Amino acid sequence: MLYNLIFTFYLNLTLLKPTSQKNNLTLIVAVSENNVIGKDNDLVWRLKNDLKRFKKLTSGHCIIMGRKTFESFPNPLPNRTHIVITRQPNYKVPEGVIVVNSLEDAIETSKKDLNPFIIGGGEIYKQALNFVDLIELTKVHHSFDGDVFFPEIDDKYWEESKTVYNDKDEIHQYPFSFITYKKR
Ligand SMILES: NC(=O)c1ccc[n+]([C@@H]2O[C@H](COP(=O)([O-])OP(=O)(O)OC[C@H]3O[C@@H](n4cnc5c(N)ncnc54)[C@H](OP(=O)(O)O)[C@@H]3O)[C@@H](O)[C@H]2O)c1
Repeated sequence: MLYNLIFTFYLNLTLLKPTSQKNNLTLIVAVSENNVIGKDNDLVWRLKNDLKRFKKLTSGHCIIMGRKTFESFPNPLPNRTHIVITRQPNYKVPEGVIVVNSLEDAIETSKKDLNPFIIGGGEIYKQALNFVDLIELTKVHHSFDGDVFFPEIDDKYWEESKTVYNDKDEIHQYPFSFITYKKR
């Protein structure tokens, strides 16, 4: 009897743990000094260590993106669950990619993951800022010509919690900083 009680209690604890843990939604973006994030449906710069960091942070997780960002990739990114947002009712994607028709559905679908990411682009970032808990922003210390922009981060709502500066070198054409913002 006592053994059964202890076993049931332990089982409940084990089963409840994943659902009781708070899911942490992170927005990840690389932005220039003049808030450019893209041009002609592509990135404007290539910074090896930034791409490496993007891969390290997002691997194994759900990545939520707008249809245009998804189409900017030659192929889906390995080892990540893609959730693509579109208003098109019959949008075709490769096997394994999930299609949803709203940002809210994307966030709901990603809840099985404790740390899903919003990965762009401009339209999705603007709508998602109200929903995310953390921003992992790479500030590229240079101004670029572009056609898609990231909104200003309002320090009334966001606190800069960590900054790591990276100087330019033989493989990085521009200096850049990794900045983490936490919601106040
Ligand atoms: N620097 C960075 O970190 C970074 C990261 C990602 C992307 N980017 C750049 O950003 C650019 C793309 O951004 P973008 O703003 O043009 O496009 P986007 O945000 O990637 O995608 C826009 C599309 O998403 C769908 N959509 C948006 N809001 C929706 C909603 N509420 N409900 C349903 N569907 C919705 C629509 O698809 P339908 O038209 O199919 O309905 C819309 O056309 C590219 O240049 C890319 O390289 C930069």
